[in-house]
Amino acid sequence: MKTDVRPQATERPRRLVISRMTNADVREVLRIEALSFATTWPQNAFASEINDNKLAHYFVGRLEDGHEASIVAYGGIWVILEDSHITTIAVHPTWRGHKLGEQLLVHLLREAITRGASWITLEVRESNEVAQRLYRKYGFTVVSTRRNYYSDNNENALVMWAGNLRGDLYRNRLSALAREFE
Ligand SMILES: CC(C)(COP(=O)(O)OP(=O)(O)OC[C@H]1O[C@@H](n2cnc3c(N)ncnc32)[C@H](O)[C@@H]1OP(=O)(O)O)[C@@H](O)C(=O)NCCC(=O)NCCS
Repeated sequence: MKTDVRPQATERPRRLVISRMTNADVREVLRIEALSFATTWPQNAFASEINDNKLAHYFVGRLEDGHEASIVAYGGIWVILEDSHITTIAVHPTWRGHKLGEQLLVHLLREAITRGASWITLEVRESNEVAQRLYRKYGFTVVSTRRNYYSDNNENALVMWAGNLRGDLYRNRLSALAREFE
């Protein structure tokens, strides 16, 4: 099945300006969350992640040339010693397909590496081929399936994993892919 229905890109990707998520950002983040996921995190989940969870690192992305510089993307990771976990990532539907999700993913991967992670994992819906394709581009592979993981429709989750993040091979791959955004 053909999953890529995007028009061919003709311009350089817009640059995403990424900063740490603050309490003031949560309202906008929740709007994108509601447009992106069948089951959503409550407001206090984001608040407790950014205020109380020392292992959590959350970011928002704004467009460099955005008129009101509103948030168009967000994402987060947990880093626990050498392990890291992408907990969420989303782009406002209007802005999907402009390489913004990819820029945010690169940022999360670099954050994980800087904080000492050697491997990274995430769960993704079996049907979410767009996200899976993005993750595969960055070296993730499927390592297992969690059956009936999503409570809204009992969909399976694929557990994806990328390892040896601190090795030369992975760092070179990341630098080469990220060059497009510099
Ligand atoms: C998944 C998501 C974050 C991707 O962000 P995005 O900004 O739309 O994606 P990008 O434009 O950065 O594309 C990066 C890569 O993703 C994949 N991709 C993006 N759009 C795609 C599409 N329509 N079809 C197939 N692959 C696609 C490709 O691998 C692409 O790389 P390429 O351009 O070199 O082929 C975004 O679609 C989203 O917010 N989805 C809803 C929330 C979600 O599913 N989050 C993930 C939960 S695990």
